[in-house]
Amino acid sequence: MKINISESKKQTAKSFSEYLAKLIAKNNILHIALSGGSTPKEVFKELAENFKNKIDWSKVQFYWGDERCVPSDDEESNYRMANEYLFSKIELPSGNTHRIRGENKPEEEAVRYAGLLEAKLPGHNMHPQFDLVILGIGDDGHTASIFPNQINLWNSKSYCEVAEHPETGQKRVSLTGNIINNAKEVAFLVTGENKAQKVLEIIDKKGNYNLYPAALVAPNTGRLNWFLDAEAGKLIK
Ligand code: 6PG
Repeated sequence: MKINISESKKQTAKSFSEYLAKLIAKNNILHIALSGGSTPKEVFKELAENFKNKIDWSKVQFYWGDERCVPSDDEESNYRMANEYLFSKIELPSGNTHRIRGENKPEEEAVRYAGLLEAKLPGHNMHPQFDLVILGIGDDGHTASIFPNQINLWNSKSYCEVAEHPETGQKRVSLTGNIINNAKEVAFLVTGENKAQKVLEIIDKKGNYNLYPAALVAPNTGRLNWFLDAEAGKLIK
C-alpha cells in the first residue's frame, strides 16, 4: 500500500495525473475504471489542461466503477462529468469509452455491462482484469456504489449489481468486489476533511472499519495506492 498525501486538492490531482501518465506510458493498452462523484473533476481538469499532449490517449479504454441510473446528459451522470471535463478536451477515439447506460433498466444494464467487461477485459484468475480501478470514498464509507447498508453486494458472484443510494433511493449500477480486487492496481482518490476519519479507520483498521465497503478494497496484487490531500490525510501518522 502506497499513501501519497499532497497539500491541496489541485496538487493531489497533479500527483495522481503524474502516476496515471507513467502507468499509461509503460503499457500498450490500459483498461481503466473511473470513479464518480465530485472528486475526480479536479483530476479531469488537470489531465485536460496539463496532460492533454503528454498522454497517448488512444492507449486508454475507459470504463466506470459505478453509474447513476440516469440519462448520460443528466447532471448526476458520472459519464457526463467525465465527458464534459476530460473526453471533450482530449484526442480520445470515440470507441474508447464504455459507459454504463444509466438510461437502461438497472437490472438489465448490470447484466449487459458485466457481459461487456467479460468480453473486453483480459482475464486473470478466471475474472476480467482492469489495469487500474479508481475509487472514491463516501462520507459513510461507501465505495463505487456499494453502500454500508448493502455491503453484502460486495461479495456478489456477479461483476455488476444494482444498488440504491440509502438517502435518495437513487438506483445505481456498481462493480462488485471480485472484479475490483482482481485489478492490477487500485487507486483511492480522496480529498476533503469530511473523509479524514474514514480514511484513518480504513487504513489503520480501527473503529467501525469493517462496516465500510471501502475497507473491503484489497487488490490481490497488493498494489493499492492512496492519493489524499492534506485534509483527508490529516489523521494519518
Ligand atoms: C459516485 C461514486 C462514489 C464516489 C464517492 C465520493 O458515483 O458517487 O463513484 O463512490 O466516489 O461517493 O464522492 P465525492 O468525490 O463526491 O466525495
